Amino acid sequence: MGTDTVMSGRVRKDLSKTNPNGNIPENRSNSRKKIQRRSKKTLICPVQKLFDTCKKVFADGKSGTVPSQENIEMLRAVLDEIKPEDVGVNPKMSYFRSTVTGRSPLVTYLHIYACHRFSICIFCLPPSGVIPLHNHPEMTVFSKLLFGTMHIKSYDWVPDSPQPSSDTRLAKVKVDSDFTAPCDTSILYPADGGNMHCFTAKTACAVLDVIGPPYSDPAGRHCTYYFDYPFSSFSGIVFETFSMICVRI
Ligand SMILES: [Fe+2]
Repeated sequence: MGTDTVMSGRVRKDLSKTNPNGNIPENRSNSRKKIQRRSKKTLICPVQKLFDTCKKVFADGKSGTVPSQENIEMLRAVLDEIKPEDVGVNPKMSYFRSTVTGRSPLVTYLHIYACHRFSICIFCLPPSGVIPLHNHPEMTVFSKLLFGTMHIKSYDWVPDSPQPSSDTRLAKVKVDSDFTAPCDTSILYPADGGNMHCFTAKTACAVLDVIGPPYSDPAGRHCTYYFDYPFSSFSGIVFETFSMICVRI
């Protein structure tokens, strides 16, 4: 993805007209600068706008840094405006068809952009497609459902809770609901908002994800998958307000 602002071909062509010295006459130059400014305002494509906004919002790029509330709202507003056609996906594409029987349908990852500060991608899920329960260590994640109906179940760790065993930890449910596009962009944070989540497609779905900072093994931000077990599976432990135990795979 480039960093240049997108402009119309017509404006570019007009700006190429110069006087015999190779310069644009001053009065024409001024009016064309106005056109240029207006064009930059009105013709920036949604993906370019998303990219430019991410550069501002994730300027820090450090593990665990949560953007300011102002920046979060700015990015959320940009994502709320994005439509499937802006990123070139629609439910008729082959990514959203189930081609394998007897197994969970394949989920396709479409890469848009990644740097050390943030990443932008799209997950394409056929009906019944599942992205298993996984975490986002030290990250802030914006998920925009572009189309379809998706069940999202998410959890946060319960801090300072006793561990039932060496490989289990107590987690509490944050979200357990169906979402149908168009709907609000969901946001999760390093320690809350449902940092571990599982997506199950009720229909063909596309999810635009913005992650800052992105997964990085060298930086210690590994993706870990989990099994979740009903709390009642662990006898002898009584935490009535929490509903699940998560087990690291
Ligand atoms: Fe995720």
